[in-house]
Amino acid sequence: MAARRALIAGNWKMHGLAAAVEELDRVIQGFGAELSSKIDLLVCPPFTLIEEFAATAKGSKVLIGAQDCHPKASGAHTGDVSAEMLADAGAKAVIVGHSERRADHGEGDALVRAKAEAAFRAGLIAIVCVGETQAQREAKQTRDVVLRQLQGSVPDGAGASLLVIAYEPVWAIGSGLTPSSGDVTEVHGLIRNAVSARFGAAMGSATRILYGGSVKPDNAASFLKANDVDGALVGGASLKAADFLAIASRAV
Ligand code: PGA
Repeated sequence: MAARRALIAGNWKMHGLAAAVEELDRVIQGFGAELSSKIDLLVCPPFTLIEEFAATAKGSKVLIGAQDCHPKASGAHTGDVSAEMLADAGAKAVIVGHSERRADHGEGDALVRAKAEAAFRAGLIAIVCVGETQAQREAKQTRDVVLRQLQGSVPDGAGASLLVIAYEPVWAIGSGLTPSSGDVTEVHGLIRNAVSARFGAAMGSATRILYGGSVKPDNAASFLKANDVDGALVGGASLKAADFLAIASRAV
């Protein structure tokens, strides 16, 4: 296994009011010296909590990120938030191209790519999400869909230090259904080969590829120990510190 440091990322989605900082506190307390020496831990709350979470996590090893950004640095874009604003609020990473944004907001690969470029411009890690729907899986299009999204969504100027790819089969998100670890390894291998072919072998072996979709404490090990899996993007189970930390502990 190459020297890729595991990343466990929590995607809080549209959950969390001010009191949720207590849950973050529990994550910080539980992310002790031993675990934090081995893996990276990231919590991505809604926009409204980023600044406070970043202030709370300051001095700890827990990183705070966002779930989306606008491609532009500033401008007349009502309701949007730029990558520069996220960095200014203390975020270190941003998820782009999550399937819920692709589905709910009609985001396509070109827009996702522009958002990833914005993340890099602001010095943020971009977690670029790809993954097939149930229908695409049944039609045996997983490979084509993932490669097309990867090609379209990852910017040419990407470097391994700020690029993370998350393979999230859409049908596995929030459903309790998961692919086998063998299926995940196969798709991750495909992604790694595509990154190597496009950016060179060094970048291919350095780029972290996360699995996401119904990751829970009791199934996390099967994914996190699989070949070519460098961490997890966790939705529902990231909302409870105990579950999130239990998943993180499976990464070592
Ligand atoms: P889930 O969500 O863990 O609740 O399935 C994962 C995600 O959407 O990133």
